[in-house]
Amino acid sequence: PVDGTGRAHGKAILIGEHAVVYGAAAIALPVPSVEAIAQVELLPAGSPGSLTSRLHTGPLATVPAELMPVAAAVHAAAIEVGLDPDRLHVRIDSEVPIGRGMGSSAAVAAAVVAAVADAAGRTLSPEVRHELIQESERVAHGNPSGLDARTVVADAPVRFLRRRPQGAVPVGAPVSFVIADSGVSASTAVAVATVRARREAAPAVIDGVIEELGALVDPVADALATGEAAALGAGMTRAHHLLREIGVSSPVLDDLVEAALGVGAAGAKLTGSGGGGCVLALARTPGSAGALAAALRAAGAPRTWTMTLPKTPDL
Ligand code: PMV
Repeated sequence: PVDGTGRAHGKAILIGEHAVVYGAAAIALPVPSVEAIAQVELLPAGSPGSLTSRLHTGPLATVPAELMPVAAAVHAAAIEVGLDPDRLHVRIDSEVPIGRGMGSSAAVAAAVVAAVADAAGRTLSPEVRHELIQESERVAHGNPSGLDARTVVADAPVRFLRRRPQGAVPVGAPVSFVIADSGVSASTAVAVATVRARREAAPAVIDGVIEELGALVDPVADALATGEAAALGAGMTRAHHLLREIGVSSPVLDDLVEAALGVGAAGAKLTGSGGGGCVLALARTPGSAGALAAALRAAGAPRTWTMTLPKTPDL
């Protein structure tokens, strides 16, 4: 029997990764087609809490290290809604790839929090829900900005500045993106440390590039609001070249960006912390997204996801 269900989705960063660490804004996109689903069953007294997932099935009390953030989400949410975490069976099914910058840990945490609340018959306020997801994210990442935790439950692009959400970003016309997996997982912490080390070695150069990256955020937001795919894509591609300059791209990511541009994408860039992870490419028109995805797979991406951001209602 299922007593509670929750779901959340993946995310991709449109613009501002790395520069956001140094005070610039960033915009992240919800990726609704890549879902994490959690189901909760209330167990009779005396049965130990347990977890079922692709990575591990067994008691909640002894999950392996990679599932500690999930256990943290179960505990935090159960305490919040007055359930005994030791009497829950939690089942997780997630399509969000791990270690690709798509917000896997936040999506799973958000799904778990929603499922536990549902099992208790409770609706959480957005702020309480956010704090519970962040408790799990702190176990996963130490010092999370909250960008992932916000975007995995958002239904529109989210703008962030200095760790605070700035609200939804309007979309003036439907735009279609293809996310291409490089097949390589990479650590956000390592990428952030790479930029920090380069900045210490050459502060003027790296600060100049970071400033240029930050200066792309407003033009990209404006292009999204007016529905100008060419301007949006140009900002994305420029961001990729700047991210390459600060040392967070890779030959695989560069090849995928080139492949996208080679078949006429409006723009393409690495998305997230880089080193591996994914490339985000903007189709010139929604109708050309399928061909763009095929080109990215032909260029070596093991998988792609296509998504269309709808026009903001009443805009
Ligand atoms: O790879 P992701 O999605 O976790 O991206 C991290 C974004 C960075 O700007 C590189 C780091 C951060 O904490 O904002």
